[in-house]
Amino acid sequence: MDKRELIEKINKLKKEKNAIVLAHTYQNLEIDEVADFSGDSLYLSRQAANTDADIIVFAGVYFMAETAKILSPDKTVLLPNLSAGCAMADKINAQQLREFKAKHPDVPVVCYVNSTAEVKAESDVCCTSANAINVVKSLNAKEVLFVPDQHLGAYAESQLDGVKVITYPGYCPVHHAISPVDITEKKKLYPCAKVMVHPECPAEVTKMADFVGSTTAIIKAVKESDAKEFIIVTEKGVVERLERDCPDKKFVLINEKAVCDTMKLLHLQDILNALENNCYEINVDAQIAKKALKSIDRMISINA
Ligand code: 13P
Ligand code: SF4
Repeated sequence: MDKRELIEKINKLKKEKNAIVLAHTYQNLEIDEVADFSGDSLYLSRQAANTDADIIVFAGVYFMAETAKILSPDKTVLLPNLSAGCAMADKINAQQLREFKAKHPDVPVVCYVNSTAEVKAESDVCCTSANAINVVKSLNAKEVLFVPDQHLGAYAESQLDGVKVITYPGYCPVHHAISPVDITEKKKLYPCAKVMVHPECPAEVTKMADFVGSTTAIIKAVKESDAKEFIIVTEKGVVERLERDCPDKKFVLINEKAVCDTMKLLHLQDILNALENNCYEINVDAQIAKKALKSIDRMISINA
């Protein structure tokens, strides 16, 4: 089947089944052609919470589909490929979080949305890369535990006065591998380029940025900027979307390894398969979901 036929079939099935497709910014670009909403984790969580659709097809990774199911328990949530996991979310489980909390009793826990439902259930509030600073600030605490991303936690601390953010040693392998040398080298080639960095990168990298923000925030900042060249310091999907949307500007990916393999598992054929066969349905244990929802709802009520 060619691309046009696939898109037509998917759109027809979406109508018949009252389904929507949510697509993360790191997805293969072709997925955007059938997506009802595309963007960062925070934006997609909000869409999942507010939709009237009966079926949500999540073009993203497991924790995103799980979060959508927790927010919309009466809807069918489909993840088209069950191998689409997140290496950062796998860095901590509920038992490891309980042990971390035991070392720091009475300190509130912020968990990055890139985590399992059971970790969210053990946390006080969730955050995404778009609102981590505001979420930490909203706790009005002197000390905060932050899991699983050491870099996002450290970045939030660096932007706030008087809060100690105690981080768990987790990280995203894609962003963790980016070094200041990568930026220096690209800057030699493109000295006028603005450096746009995702806060999952190490502190030495965020310190060299002209702008730090979530994937959606980076795209918005580029579109609003008068600059013509940008070094994009996050996953390749952001560069592909910017090249599509801003043909008059030049974008340079920080390095060719900045690709999240699990985000790239999905193609149009997988979306069609998900809709045709109702697969793969994501469910969350009711007790865990109830507790995790508190952390997610608390985040959603805080203005990003
Ligand atoms: P955002 O969607 O918050 O930009 O985060 C990127 C990411 O790594 C999602 O897994
Ligand atoms: Fe997880 Fe990193 Fe991939 Fe995002 S880019 S889904 S944090 S492994």
